[in-house]
Amino acid sequence: MADAGSKLIVALDFDSAGAALDLARRLDPATLRLKVGKQLFTLAGPDIVRSLQGLGFDIFLDLKFHDIPTTVAKAIKSAAELGVWMVNVHASGGSRMMRAAREALNDSPRPPLLVGVTVLTSMDQEDLIELGCDNAPIDRVCQLAALAESAGLDGVVCSAAEAAVLSARQREGFLLVTPGIRLAGDEAGDQRRVVTPESAVADGATHLVVGRSITASDDPAKTAADIHASLDALASG
Ligand code: C5P
Repeated sequence: MADAGSKLIVALDFDSAGAALDLARRLDPATLRLKVGKQLFTLAGPDIVRSLQGLGFDIFLDLKFHDIPTTVAKAIKSAAELGVWMVNVHASGGSRMMRAAREALNDSPRPPLLVGVTVLTSMDQEDLIELGCDNAPIDRVCQLAALAESAGLDGVVCSAAEAAVLSARQREGFLLVTPGIRLAGDEAGDQRRVVTPESAVADGATHLVVGRSITASDDPAKTAADIHASLDALASG
């Protein structure tokens, strides 16, 4: 289990359970958490979550549920029974759906943190226009974050580029989970709204989701340690 103050979440986007477990064994569960997303969960199911928990890791189950309220509520309940640390839904599923997800956790002895995905970090203004949404990404993110907070969610997933605005607008303690993190010099790949770990935390991100910058590096454990060191330097400087 990670320290309460640990901000780092490593995205295990692998095409086999073995590769995910190999990487996990090289990382320290006291200093970071792991994210299991659609690729790994679809191929390896709840067993991979249990195996990673067995290695001592807190798990963010990133399945971004988006369905009718009853279905999402039941899926969230199943995630809670799996004992995950964090789970998410798409905020664009609306407040009735998000409230149903929240209520599904009422009887859970150890409810996971429940966060809402605002605008995917792979999307920019052009992508939103294509969907008939004329808002700038920041305005759409603010709208969805306000909806998520009023539905009782613990926080949102957003780009760190929006963290400064959101941390000033949302209640204290509202979580800002930010993917789209890239170390200086890394390729952005399919991401559009990318930010370095230091800028993300300086702007108010409470958790950083880092995938390829760690998993594709020559020494993932060292890259994770370097990120921690730069965040510690930021905190003490
Ligand atoms: O490799 P990279 O750091 O881009 O991985 C980012 C991870 O965060 C991926 O697993 C992706 O599914 C996830 N994610 C995202 N944008 C969101 C929510 C989750 O990139 N809005």
